[in-house]
Amino acid sequence: MKVLIIGAGNMGKTYARSFLASRFITSTDLYILERSSESVASVKEVPQGNIRHQAGEFISQTDIIILAVKPQDFPALAKQIMPYIHQEQIVLSIMAGIKIASIYEALGATKIVRAMPNLPAQIGMGMTVFTSSADIDKKELFILQNLINTTGKSVYVEDETKIDAATAISGSGPAYVYYFMEAMIQAGVKMGFTLSQAELLVNQTFMGAVHLHNQSELTCEEWINRVASKGGTTEAALKVLSENTVNNNIESALFAAFNRAKELGN
Ligand SMILES: NC(=O)c1ccc[n+]([C@@H]2O[C@H](COP(=O)([O-])OP(=O)(O)OC[C@H]3O[C@@H](n4cnc5c(N)ncnc54)[C@H](OP(=O)(O)O)[C@@H]3O)[C@@H](O)[C@H]2O)c1
Repeated sequence: MKVLIIGAGNMGKTYARSFLASRFITSTDLYILERSSESVASVKEVPQGNIRHQAGEFISQTDIIILAVKPQDFPALAKQIMPYIHQEQIVLSIMAGIKIASIYEALGATKIVRAMPNLPAQIGMGMTVFTSSADIDKKELFILQNLINTTGKSVYVEDETKIDAATAISGSGPAYVYYFMEAMIQAGVKMGFTLSQAELLVNQTFMGAVHLHNQSELTCEEWINRVASKGGTTEAALKVLSENTVNNNIESALFAAFNRAKELGN
């Protein structure tokens, strides 16, 4: 199975390295099409002969084509690769906001998978939500999911609008986590910790809380109740969060991202 990654930026390189590290794809079966030489210079694992800077006949010989260029670069790219696309190939797009219908229109491909990964894919801890066109069969989808899972975990959705929702939750999600962490770090510094001590306290607290939650059947609410005792310190903090309706604000923020994703898609 020959795989072509188009665009060797952050995500393209992440995919290339994850496929090879998992041994799901051998280096001789992996091709990269990248317009700038500097970007691919660090991808030493792929044979030089498989790294191309111009579209050409080799594209027709690949089975899976991964579109990892910025959405605004897609129209120009589509014109270059369209003559080499055929109906048997599977096109996997990770481009934010570009709908399956637009990819079909631009390339004529019918087997299309659209995925929304997130940044921790870089360390194999990514979360990807993906959907597909009706022309993909179960076996092909299984292969695609295995490829995606080399970067972390994934969820398949039937409804393409859920990709916009995933953009708001898991796609942008790492930034919300860092926002929360940053606020806690700043508070720690104000209480007298050094910056590195405050960072350690907060990092370890996030990691510990997530691992604990993952290893149990308890919901977040049940865990909150275990930490917060009546009249205690956690309750004092939770009271302020609740008075400031922080949960509603988080929901509004996520819906703002959801609406923006829908807007960009149109
Ligand atoms: N980064 C994330 O966390 C993330 C998460 C979810 C989805 N995505 C999606 O993933 C895609 C890639 O994001 P990224 O952060 O990896 O972008 P990036 O670092 O800018 O990488 C894109 C690469 O594609 C190259 N390129 C552009 N047009 C090309 C063409 N016609 N032929 C060959 N190569 C071309 C660019 O070259 P130049 O350097 O010359 O421009 C660049 O090296 C985007 O569509 C984004 O929406 C990213």
